[in-house]
Amino acid sequence: MKRSDGRSGSQGIHRDPAGLGPTVSLYESAVFGALQLSNRVVMAPLTRTRADDDGVPTDVMVEYYRQRAGQGLIISEGTWPAAEGKSYPGQPGIVTPAQIEGWRSVTEAVHASGGTIVMQLMHGGRVSHPAISGEPRVVAPSALAAPGQTRTPAGKADLPVAHALTAEEIPLVVEQFAQAARNAIEAGFDGVEVHGANGYLVHEFLSPVSNIREDQYGGSPENRARFAIEVTGAVAAAVGAERTGIRLSPQHNIQGVLEEDDADVRDTYTAVAERLAPLGLAFVDVLNASPTGELVQHIRATLGAPLIVNSGFATPTSREEAEALVADGWADAVAAGRPVIANPDLVERWQSGAELNEPRPELFYGSTAEGYTDYPSLESVRA
Ligand SMILES: Cc1cc2nc3c(=O)[nH]c(=O)nc-3n(C[C@H](O)[C@H](O)[C@H](O)COP(=O)(O)O)c2cc1C
Repeated sequence: MKRSDGRSGSQGIHRDPAGLGPTVSLYESAVFGALQLSNRVVMAPLTRTRADDDGVPTDVMVEYYRQRAGQGLIISEGTWPAAEGKSYPGQPGIVTPAQIEGWRSVTEAVHASGGTIVMQLMHGGRVSHPAISGEPRVVAPSALAAPGQTRTPAGKADLPVAHALTAEEIPLVVEQFAQAARNAIEAGFDGVEVHGANGYLVHEFLSPVSNIREDQYGGSPENRARFAIEVTGAVAAAVGAERTGIRLSPQHNIQGVLEEDDADVRDTYTAVAERLAPLGLAFVDVLNASPTGELVQHIRATLGAPLIVNSGFATPTSREEAEALVADGWADAVAAGRPVIANPDLVERWQSGAELNEPRPELFYGSTAEGYTDYPSLESVRA
């Protein structure tokens, strides 16, 4: 496949493990495990910080997700399975009864509009701060700080040196993920996605730079893969593998979670994929600059689940890129982030070739409806 950006896909590798055939269109329906997708445009997980101070989803969040139910699958914003995992003010949780009830309003609105929605379970690990989480410590595989600062309600602050989870504490965190998954299903979600990407807790275990442990969770690629495998296994056991996916971002090199040795990266993600393959997951969602490249397609072939891809932050996902990735068989679906923020009816716009609204990044992490639920739909413009 020749791409306009000059990247070309690897030839001769196993594609299409889901048996969907190479001529499927982005706008065709799909079945990923227990999930029914009306099309293959997935709303990427997007932190938007509009929950209340108790991590409870607000009415404006209900409206935001309802507006976006036309995407074939919504993956919710990263949602914390434990207060220690809260990374940003305004980020929602899935721990308390009030949070479960709040999310129920979201899932009911999405379902009433014909959508399918899974929750991204995001434990921020060392990318957090006591002034944000209200907890005395931040946790990580090793006693290291993520580089840089974070914005707390009291102003900017350095990210703190983490408490290295002990081998005795790790099963408790794994269980927090499993309980959060049960809570998500109770709240009406169709499934869950383990956030194993972007420099947060699960990803921190995968990298030899953020994980310098010397026990069974550190050192070799297999050991560093163990936490991701245990979390995903526990979540799948709790709510069913057919309702469980995982997001991975190999070589994203973000938040000090560096993966710079190609051979080590391949071994680490091979270990993850080989051990998750027997579960029969609903999907694997990979963020990587080269979705058609050898590494992503190797993960797909090894894991054997339907593949959702996203080519990362460099440029917003375009219609041409998304259509080609699915039509040429490189992916079963494409996750779009910023285009869905700005265009609640993105599928309709892409399919009809309509003009797109421009995103307003300065309002991505706001706290009101502005820049959130006020992007016009085609219908409202034409009315
Ligand atoms: C405002 C914003 C918030 C994001 N929050 C999350 C998140 O909670 N979880 C996650 O896995 N990725 C998150 N991402 C990454 C997106 O899912 C996506 O990978 C990225 O935006 C690139 O896709 P795009 O070019 O279609 O926007 C976020 C991105 C943006 C712009």
